[in-house]
Amino acid sequence: MHSLDIEKIKTYLHRHRGRFVRELCEYLRFPSVSADARYRQGLSACAKWLTAHCRKMGLNTELYRTKGNPVVMARTPRQARSAKPHYLVYGHYDVQPPEPLELWKTPPFQPRIVGHSLYARGASDNKGQHFAHLKAAEAHLKTGTELPCDLTFIIEGEEEVGSQSLAAFLRKHSARLRCDTVVISDTTLYGLQYPTLSYGLRGICGLEITLHGPSRDLHSGTFGGSVENPAMALCQLLAGLRDERGHITIPGFYDGVLELSPFERAAFALHPFDVVNYKKSLGVPQLFGEAGFTPVEQCSARPTLEINGLTSGHQGEGNKTIIPSWARAKLTMRLVPHQNPEKILALTIAQLKKICPPTVRMKITTAADSDPYLVSPESTKVQAALDALRDAFGCEPLLAREGGSIPIVDEFKQILEADSLLLGLALPDDNAHSPNEKFNLEVFAKGMMMSACLWQRLSQLRK
Ligand code: BES
Ligand code: MN
Repeated sequence: MHSLDIEKIKTYLHRHRGRFVRELCEYLRFPSVSADARYRQGLSACAKWLTAHCRKMGLNTELYRTKGNPVVMARTPRQARSAKPHYLVYGHYDVQPPEPLELWKTPPFQPRIVGHSLYARGASDNKGQHFAHLKAAEAHLKTGTELPCDLTFIIEGEEEVGSQSLAAFLRKHSARLRCDTVVISDTTLYGLQYPTLSYGLRGICGLEITLHGPSRDLHSGTFGGSVENPAMALCQLLAGLRDERGHITIPGFYDGVLELSPFERAAFALHPFDVVNYKKSLGVPQLFGEAGFTPVEQCSARPTLEINGLTSGHQGEGNKTIIPSWARAKLTMRLVPHQNPEKILALTIAQLKKICPPTVRMKITTAADSDPYLVSPESTKVQAALDALRDAFGCEPLLAREGGSIPIVDEFKQILEADSLLLGLALPDDNAHSPNEKFNLEVFAKGMMMSACLWQRLSQLRK
């Protein structure tokens, strides 16, 4: 890019920063919670607002209905048989449920700015992050600066529940969506001094286990001692899935797990990880993880099993002396290459059946899953993206593997045969999925610049 052009973009982004933040606040007012049917209205209103907003920016935008929540497709104006490279930018306008509401300092869908932080559900995950890319495109369109590439934005509304409708959408529109690379800002940024490129994601699979005991809650004095307590049986069952060294005990769980290379271990060792601060910021007395791995490795490149929810018996105030009729747990496992979600689920269910006592009836349902993802951190595209991070943040970027999951990334590979560049803008303390979620406005500004630089750097690879 001519330095004049980049200056023009920079000036525009700087000049309109206040308006961008106000627009992002408007976007954040929609309660677009995908996990909860009561928010259906919030989701469609949000998608409509986004469509109108993209049109106003000068993007050719369509709102597509699906079996689930609508998908927004916004394209930069282009020539009929354009020879420019084509990049797809992915994001999601759906957000996690805001509960527990009482822990929010101000309501989750009433955006509030304190210092450099914009507080609201979805601010960081993921509205603020893809908004940075949209605004970088706006800067090109509104200053008449030609983009070196064609861009298509795909913003969906079901990421937090497994992206069920988007795979079908990709198949249906695959001809138009064929692209050189997918760009996604929906992962971790370790700090303004530590711009981060993630070259992998963990996969995920999940299940819900219910143990049914007596046909109703029983008086624990009258019956206690003669029948199994489903809550106790569930605790013992779950405890049997992991040993005291953090190793998952499901037979076959680690089969084929890709070991970390020395290159990766060296790259992860450069992360600004401080055990004392980490413990303090999370409020735990001590860390726990699989023996033989550093915390950075444990939470990005090793598989895990977590209990996400556990329910049984009396939850109200005071005591109620019962043997509960049932107990339930929700579990997810984070997977790494080359674990297969279906195979891991089958192994887990087989093991649960094997160790479940005959005193209870077990019912299992499974949740949406997603495959792990990994690309070479040495490809030319990754190098170009690292250059864009250097351009925008002015310091040396980190290479990481994201411990979270983005279900559609593997489908981009399968259906569109495109790799994804993961350039996250979510700080570790952004409180994603937690109360008081926030987005750092300095990161927002750098993210917009990063986007502008990225199109230049990537497009140069074609020349
Ligand atoms: N933005 C996250 C992915 C992510 C997670 C990035 C953690 C950085 C850290 C994404 O929106 C997300 O939360 N995905 C879910 C997917 C699941 C519901 C299928 C996840 O990882 O739990
Ligand atoms: Mn999320």
